[in-house]
Amino acid sequence: MAEIGKPVSRIDGRLKVTGGAKYAAEFNQVNMAYAFPVRSTIAKGTITATDTSAAEASSGVLAVITHKNAAKLNAINPQEQWKAGIVFLGEDLPPLQDDKVYYFGQFVACVVAETYEQARSAAALLKVTYAVEKPRIDLKSELPNGYRPEKLFGEEAQINTGKTAAVLAAAAQKIEHTYTTSTENHHPMEPHASIAVWEAADKLTIYDATQGVLVTRAIAAYFLNLKPENVRVISPYVGGGFGSKGAWLHLVLAAMAARVVKRPVKLAVTRQMMATNVGRRSATIQKIALGAGFDGKLAAIRHESETYTNLSQFFEPSGLQTKVLYAAPIREITYKVAKLNVGTPTFMRAPGETPGTFALESAMDEMAYEMKIDPLEFRVSNHAAVDPMTEHPFSGNNLLECYRTGAEKFGWSNRKMQPRQTRSGRNLIGYGMATATYPAGRSSATVRVQVLINGDVKVMTAAADIGTGTYTVIAQTAADALGLPVQRIAVELGDSNLPTAPFAGGSQTTASVHPAVLAACEMLRESLMGLATTDAKSKLSGRRAEEIAYGDGKFFVRSDRSKTDSYADIMRRNSKVMMEACTTTKPVTDGGLGSPVAPCMVAPAASEENSDAKKYSFHSFGAQFAEVWIDEDLGTIRVKRFTSVQDVGRIMNEKTARSQIIGGVIFGLGAALMEATEHDHRWANPVTRTLADYHVPVNMDVPEIDVHFINKPDPHISSIGARGIGEIGITGVSAAVANAVFNATGKRIRDLPLSPDKLL
Ligand code: MOS
Repeated sequence: MAEIGKPVSRIDGRLKVTGGAKYAAEFNQVNMAYAFPVRSTIAKGTITATDTSAAEASSGVLAVITHKNAAKLNAINPQEQWKAGIVFLGEDLPPLQDDKVYYFGQFVACVVAETYEQARSAAALLKVTYAVEKPRIDLKSELPNGYRPEKLFGEEAQINTGKTAAVLAAAAQKIEHTYTTSTENHHPMEPHASIAVWEAADKLTIYDATQGVLVTRAIAAYFLNLKPENVRVISPYVGGGFGSKGAWLHLVLAAMAARVVKRPVKLAVTRQMMATNVGRRSATIQKIALGAGFDGKLAAIRHESETYTNLSQFFEPSGLQTKVLYAAPIREITYKVAKLNVGTPTFMRAPGETPGTFALESAMDEMAYEMKIDPLEFRVSNHAAVDPMTEHPFSGNNLLECYRTGAEKFGWSNRKMQPRQTRSGRNLIGYGMATATYPAGRSSATVRVQVLINGDVKVMTAAADIGTGTYTVIAQTAADALGLPVQRIAVELGDSNLPTAPFAGGSQTTASVHPAVLAACEMLRESLMGLATTDAKSKLSGRRAEEIAYGDGKFFVRSDRSKTDSYADIMRRNSKVMMEACTTTKPVTDGGLGSPVAPCMVAPAASEENSDAKKYSFHSFGAQFAEVWIDEDLGTIRVKRFTSVQDVGRIMNEKTARSQIIGGVIFGLGAALMEATEHDHRWANPVTRTLADYHVPVNMDVPEIDVHFINKPDPHISSIGARGIGEIGITGVSAAVANAVFNATGKRIRDLPLSPDKLL
């Protein structure tokens, strides 16, 4: 494999830096109008009246849509939605269907006008009056009215054998602490946007910023009561998703508006709306109890997570990593969820593991300190060699090597066990580490590959490149499989007319799509070779496949490299302008966050049966190391160095993979040090709704991040051996920082973010 693994620069990089890459809001249409949603100024209650007269009289206004005149949409119906292929729906709230308000900022009307400015200014003229109810805003006080969810991603949510309390009580060493994390909001560079174009009364095209064109198509078709084949979703470039670009129903609102004014309509979500209308990570309260023997071996782990949701079944699954890490024979993992009147929580980069590893990995550090064991040693001696819940072997697990490599690269041996031992000037210096983990998902995917008349190749699939490098890495796999330079491979993604690929969530695109790229390319290569070896005019005539190698767009005889036949020549002799192959690959269980299997539209589906899917436990692992410098007078925490070692199977592209981990670590530093969505408890409105008050790390906050990969192909996940890489980088980061803060200062902070006030 010549190209796979190489640090190839993004093939779409030039388009992106020159403005040539078109994002959803840039697909301007002839005669396009603009929609601007009107948002509720209460968090709970009922709309009693909407005075639209001033807005309607405002210049350029084409329509004002309220729940009184809005078209009726298909109602929420989980069974029907599932059948329609809807696996991600942001919130169970089709827009403008009734007078109820569930959170501050909810869309309660929509103004459509000739220009964006006219729509926005008229939206401010709408007078909505409400019967106000008291919103539920405080997590702690609402929890007693909460519920214990039964299911989590299709499995039992509550894991409790009832034996934990006794084991903990009998343990020689025991700790129990409560860790809390804040609500966070996604702020990808590109806010959400949709442009809806009605091609006919029952035929719709939507340009949308989405992590999955097929899910978005399913959602538009379901709520607008259209045939899925009559809806096309186009989303070639996405400026970051992080879980927020599942599907939120502003895209349906754009289509409703376009239908009313009979023109294409653009609806661009503002940065402020991102605090309420397109998801968030909910705050958590997590209680962890660990019990261990004098030998330093864990006897039991209890992890109780409390969080909130609103208009969705989704809740932050903070106990996930506790199912996978450490060899304790007994564990209890439970959830309780309250309903609050705030924007609906959803997936946000490593949902569950991000706050969950903060709690578990802080607790591991606390226990090690109590037992006077080095925290890295404590983890090594409690390493789970097999999946602790299922007792299945892991498909690949090099966590111990991550610990060793990380310790060496970071210089862990210089760490002092006792806090407050290292200083530089007015700064206290501390070292901390934590384990990273994230499940390795894989779903069905279909890929079509074409060789064109000049021998160039096109690879097509409905996957998304949400900024991760999907275009580039697919070109590398195809380049290797067909023996062509990357420059001769064109990749088409992000269009629902392309062959089925999974939603870009759960870090599964690479693991899912590349086996299909490889299989389709191999099918195509075999067809081309067949044409050559059976053709008297070919220098390969009569040769067996084993005698033939390929490279640089041609086949050649292994023993005599002067005997060649190029793809272009083969096509020309056979009067073909294009040849193609299309293949579907799937893991045997097809579980997780996958899309429904669709037959390959061109060639019969060849399926790679992954017989290992039920025998192994598929997870990635890593180790995170942080050095912090703390000015105790000011309470400021500076992360000075960070080392991340990741075991994610085969590395497909050393450069884009490194970028993913760096991005994940920076995201983790945000969660550790600054990110928090704060509400005014009187109105339940988020007050941190711009990037001036919702802080994310800037360059000055980000140190040198030293990334290492174990780079051992996973032999069981696929023919390629690559697991996902998008989410694991954030996991463990906030615990590594908090543990370093303890090592520096002797202060244990169990509440994120670690803002200066908590240190003083
Ligand atoms: Mo990811 S949070 O599953 O998009």
